[in-house]
Amino acid sequence: MLKGKHIILGITGSIAAYKAATIIRGLVKKGAEVQVVITPAGKEFITPLTLSTLSRKPVISEFFSNRDGTWNSHVDLGLWADAMLIAPATAATIGKMANGIADNMLITTYLSCKAPVFVAPAMDLDMYAHPATQENLDRLRSFGNRIIEPDEGELASQLTGKGRMREPEDIIACLESSLTSDGELANKKVLITAGPTYEKIDPVRFIGNYSSGKMGFALAEACARRGAEVFLIAGPTALKAKHPRVCQVDVDSAEEMYLDAVGLFPRMDAALLCAAVADYRPESVEEVKIKRETAGKITLHLVPNKDIAAALGSDKQEGQILGGFALETHDGMTHAQDKMERKNLDFIVLNSLEDQGAGFRHDTNKITIIDRTGSIVEYPLKKKEEVADDIVDKLVTLLK
Ligand code: CTP
Repeated sequence: MLKGKHIILGITGSIAAYKAATIIRGLVKKGAEVQVVITPAGKEFITPLTLSTLSRKPVISEFFSNRDGTWNSHVDLGLWADAMLIAPATAATIGKMANGIADNMLITTYLSCKAPVFVAPAMDLDMYAHPATQENLDRLRSFGNRIIEPDEGELASQLTGKGRMREPEDIIACLESSLTSDGELANKKVLITAGPTYEKIDPVRFIGNYSSGKMGFALAEACARRGAEVFLIAGPTALKAKHPRVCQVDVDSAEEMYLDAVGLFPRMDAALLCAAVADYRPESVEEVKIKRETAGKITLHLVPNKDIAAALGSDKQEGQILGGFALETHDGMTHAQDKMERKNLDFIVLNSLEDQGAGFRHDTNKITIIDRTGSIVEYPLKKKEEVADDIVDKLVTLLK
């Protein structure tokens, strides 16, 4: 299924570089053309001769050839690619990618690459867990790059933990399922917001809500199953997306969710806004824990958060579809229709807390889908996975 696909394989300086040979063999066997770009440190771990023999192409490492003065065009390479895979990706390369530090051929190629980018980190457990690495990975996710999460296992340091690069067959399977989607949403990109947001009061307290994220995650899986590439911006929840075509971006606050959503939306075909975004946040966050003994009675000053749905509604271009949710306790239909108009949504999913088994924390939901043509369709109480399919049916119809 990867037949004829052009894949750039970026290799960096990690002991896991030896596995790049198996990745190349696997990709070539499936009919892909592989162009290796290796960093100077990468060459310390695996020889260009091995890589060029397996990929049947000269390996690119430097901007210029000292022998004949020819130079390698990272721009042409970026445009040639159907996908770029960086495996193994070290903490240093991930940091450079996140910050645009283009000091080698691999990073310049990354910055020029318009195709989907997959990153398979490989490093020691403490390096992987470090907030700097995690923040850089979050940045890459927010750029729409796919992180192929490392495994837990024995590491080169002889310690055991998370940081071991995924096995070549898993990496190839991830590429394959991303690049060869079929289904009604094949080649479509869908942004989904899910879960609650947490608005900090002090280092240990926040304002939140009961949203579990289940509905948004079910939507993400349903869209991915039908072939879409999904960007799931999730507020704090214990859930993890399973489908390889779902790129999960974890955030805490409404402001973070807003920034990621507004950044990703121009590249999307559709967005489904399922998150229960906190309407307000504390005007200021206390730097130290508020102590009851000393603070006594307190007043929290709250300021409104930005409305993500309304912002995307005003940025929306022709052909983009925007769907939202309305969770109401009374006068559901009136409120939902008003929200759809106000936020310039194409359709809205109403769930009412008056209905048993609907709304937060349940595994079921009961919805009504309303659109701009005046169509109103009521559905019976169903599992959230089935509800997600009903909503995706609506999206598919509108995208046509
Ligand atoms: N929404 C959003 N950003 C916000 C608030 C809401 O994207 N800051 C989205 C929700 O994800 C949902 C829709 O807007 O798709 C309606 O959310 P809701 O909270 O019901 O709307 P509000 O405008 O906040 O209205 P209310 O006064 O009822 O809270």
